[in-house]
Amino acid sequence: MADKHHVRFEPVGIEIEVDEDQNILRAAAEQGIMLMHGCKEGQCAACKSFLLEGDDVDHDRYSTFALPDYEREEGFTLLCRAHAYEDLTIELLNYDEEMIHSGLPIQQAVTKVVSNENVTHDMRHLVLRLVEPASVKFFPGQYMDIAVPGTEHTRSFSMANTSSLESGQLEFVIKVYPDGLFSKFLDTGVSVGDRLDITGPFGVFTLRESVSAGLVFVGGGAGMAPILSLLRSMAERDIQRTATFYYGARRRRDLCFEKELRELEESLPGFKYVPALSEPDDADEWDGEVGLITDVVQRMAGDLTGADAYVCGPPPMVEAAVELLPALGVAEDRVFYDKFTTSGDAGE
Ligand SMILES: Cc1cc2nc3c(=O)[nH]c(=O)nc-3n(C[C@H](O)[C@H](O)[C@H](O)COP(=O)(O)OP(=O)(O)OC[C@H]3O[C@@H](n4cnc5c(N)ncnc54)[C@H](O)[C@@H]3O)c2cc1C
Ligand code: FES
Repeated sequence: MADKHHVRFEPVGIEIEVDEDQNILRAAAEQGIMLMHGCKEGQCAACKSFLLEGDDVDHDRYSTFALPDYEREEGFTLLCRAHAYEDLTIELLNYDEEMIHSGLPIQQAVTKVVSNENVTHDMRHLVLRLVEPASVKFFPGQYMDIAVPGTEHTRSFSMANTSSLESGQLEFVIKVYPDGLFSKFLDTGVSVGDRLDITGPFGVFTLRESVSAGLVFVGGGAGMAPILSLLRSMAERDIQRTATFYYGARRRRDLCFEKELRELEESLPGFKYVPALSEPDDADEWDGEVGLITDVVQRMAGDLTGADAYVCGPPPMVEAAVELLPALGVAEDRVFYDKFTTSGDAGE
């Protein structure tokens, strides 16, 4: 068994024990400490932190876009890639006091496929039933890692439902890439009753509830999943904050959960759903908003001072929204986002 070391996080004063063969982010998650992260693959820099004491750290493969060599030499580290070989003190550059202690310890679970239907021409609605254990606690907006059968790889997918405690089920919306390791397999090789192994929950894309600020949701593609989970949980718990969901798609055939979102406009009095198409054609007979979703937000949202924003979807859309929203008045630290990086984005 590998040696263990103590890792202390400042300025929050939390200490954990880390095995040499575990990365620090994973060790924290297993101990219920929810540190900021995104891809968990050394690509997005969301987990970037600074070594205050100790420097015997090895990193698994990562992108130098996320951690340039000069930053590594200065003492920066990526917690999702870093293995500690001595006791360390680490300064968290990005953390959320509301979230850090609310972590749920991650679990491994066996599931069976309940259904795997098309929800658009290139997105699947996958429903899994938990077999062992029979339920896993997660917060709306979080995600699981699904193991790709027959490989050592996992892929991350956000739950679209709100809890597995009563139903024992997990619901996902998954975009199919023609050469995608998992998604192509899902498209062509997964049948009802098949076994899929999952680990989780992960993620900090959860509703911050200590405030009653208005909410702006911006999503694209499979970014629908965690936003739907957040909206469903608001409806279940009768959270009556004003909220607008701007959802970007190319054409009408890319829209999904339309009926449910329109019904949510009825059940959540302050809620508005604004779908926009970036490339509608005549056959779409579309009289709704047109343009890139960030352009639509810029045009329609007005002054967003005091609002909380939740952004989720493909990286270019997320990056554009994360730049735009503060310009419209959202405080930078109130823009919460999950970037759906794919392993194909790995850089070097
Ligand atoms: C926090 C988080 C949550 C996520 N939630 C969701 C979700 O709810 N729904 C969802 O659909 N996705 C989600 N994702 C993305 C998801 O995890 C997968 O990355 C995505 O589904 C692609 O996986 P894949 O195995 O199908 O494709 P991959 O095999 O990873 O390939 C993806 C694309 O990259 C291309 N590619 C592969 N390798 C390379 C390479 N070396 N160079 C260039 N291109 C390459 C492929 O051809 C394909 O087009 C999430 C990601 C994160 C980080
Ligand atoms: S979570 Fe570590 S780089 Fe993305």
